[in-house]
Amino acid sequence: MGRTRLVAANWKMYKTVAEAAEFGARLRNELADPAPVEGVVCAPFTTLAAVGPALAGSPYLLGAQNLHWEAQGAFTGEISGPQLADLGCRFVIVGHSERRQYFHETDAGVRLKLQAAYRHGLRPILCIGETGPEREAGRTEAVLLGQLRGALDGLEPGQAALLTVAYEPVWAIGSGVPATAPDAQAAAALIRGHLSASFGREAAGEARIQYGGSVKPDNLAEFVAQPDIDGALVGGASLRADSFAALLRAAAAGS
Ligand code: 13P
Repeated sequence: MGRTRLVAANWKMYKTVAEAAEFGARLRNELADPAPVEGVVCAPFTTLAAVGPALAGSPYLLGAQNLHWEAQGAFTGEISGPQLADLGCRFVIVGHSERRQYFHETDAGVRLKLQAAYRHGLRPILCIGETGPEREAGRTEAVLLGQLRGALDGLEPGQAALLTVAYEPVWAIGSGVPATAPDAQAAAALIRGHLSASFGREAAGEARIQYGGSVKPDNLAEFVAQPDIDGALVGGASLRADSFAALLRAAAAGS
């Protein structure tokens, strides 16, 4: 298969500059012998300039949680791809359910952001996932496919190969109740099948698919043991350096 597993921390709206820098220093101490997986820290905008230098020279990369689709302009309060690349970001989360839910992001807007990420050399982590009522109504597959089509329309196969899709069922986020590994695998297989049909088998085989939603160091190994799950996007359990290090080690299990 050959896909390197990817564990991404999504800190959401947590941490001051001092707390973020301390995380970076602690993470380096935690992992003298790094796990053979990729680790990304998607920090708040205000802490990127502190986390970047703290991770420099480590195997871990810097990421952001959102971007605007324009490179610059009169968009008060927004941050662009070139501004993120300038701070050393290599990844950016796009379309997180909290942005869809609280900030009214649409599939069309998510698509513009995804394309902007590629234009500016940032690797997107596209979040998709069904809500609890959607799952109960038997609409999970339709919702996931709709979100994929809406975000990925017009992408080139070479771009799709660099994509990460995070399957994050909304009901599992922050609830302490993760999806079961077989349910997460079913969603991941659906996602990979869509990528294959849209962009070809080769690109679909290279794209990475993460599970997210109440991932902890002690449940991650069973997710990455699934054939189509290549890592995790983690909120709460990524906030402490020792816990993030434990996640990286757990993701390496069986790799
Ligand atoms: P939790 O890991 O806190 O459930 O959050 C998941 C998430 O939303 C990551 O993007």
